[in-house]
Amino acid sequence: MHWPVPTLYDGDYVSTWKAMTELVTGGRLRTAGVSNFQPEHLDRIIAATGVVPAVNQIEVHPYFTNDAVRAASISRGIAVEAHSPLGHGQARLLDDPMIRRVAAARDKTSAQIVLRWHLQNGRIIFPKSVHRERMAENLSVFGFELSPDEMAAIDGLDRGEKGRIGPHPDTFAAIPDKDERSGAQGRTHGRERTRPSS
Ligand SMILES: NC(=O)c1ccc[n+]([C@@H]2O[C@H](COP(=O)([O-])OP(=O)(O)OC[C@H]3O[C@@H](n4cnc5c(N)ncnc54)[C@H](OP(=O)(O)O)[C@@H]3O)[C@@H](O)[C@H]2O)c1
Repeated sequence: MHWPVPTLYDGDYVSTWKAMTELVTGGRLRTAGVSNFQPEHLDRIIAATGVVPAVNQIEVHPYFTNDAVRAASISRGIAVEAHSPLGHGQARLLDDPMIRRVAAARDKTSAQIVLRWHLQNGRIIFPKSVHRERMAENLSVFGFELSPDEMAAIDGLDRGEKGRIGPHPDTFAAIPDKDERSGAQGRTHGRERTRPSS
């Protein structure tokens, strides 16, 4: 489930989760997970169905470590998958002087340093690139290890809520409208609406 959209459908995201769990029980899905769920959203679907999502895909990168939601997911036995692991490719993160310093010292790119930081923190990551050479670069993060000091320095870049790039799950309320369904997918990303347009 991509977003809980708790301000829509009378706050009923539980029905969707129930339907998903029935697909698992019926053997049509192997497993089910959620995305952008806050701790209270997780508690509600688990209490209603007894089924714990396999994964919670949430925004995590050095400027927004999303600690509370990560800890809440892990403590409920839910794997954390970091979306926007490179900070959505925004230059301000990959050009961060500290990340650049670590990258230069290790003869790696900023992206490789950030991805390695995620991996050493035990996260599932799925960086996106349309460039073959960057895909290769992003896969080449297993032959080195960041030191505890380097890890701590990157942890220290967290800006809390100010570092969040995407919308907040408590208020995100966009659903694809007719045009978006027939046209470009994902155009609602990063936009917040309080009511659907259709
Ligand atoms: N569940 C959700 O609500 C949600 C929200 C956001 C994203 N996601 C998913 O998360 C995945 C990745 O997130 P994302 O695309 O937002 O952000 P991302 O992986 O953090 O960043 C992607 C951006 O970084 C650039 N990039 C990739 N590798 C690079 C490199 N080695 N050096 C410099 N720039 C690099 C890409 O540009 P080029 O393509 O030009 O290389 C692209 O602009 C996607 O599959 C997306 O669908 C999920």
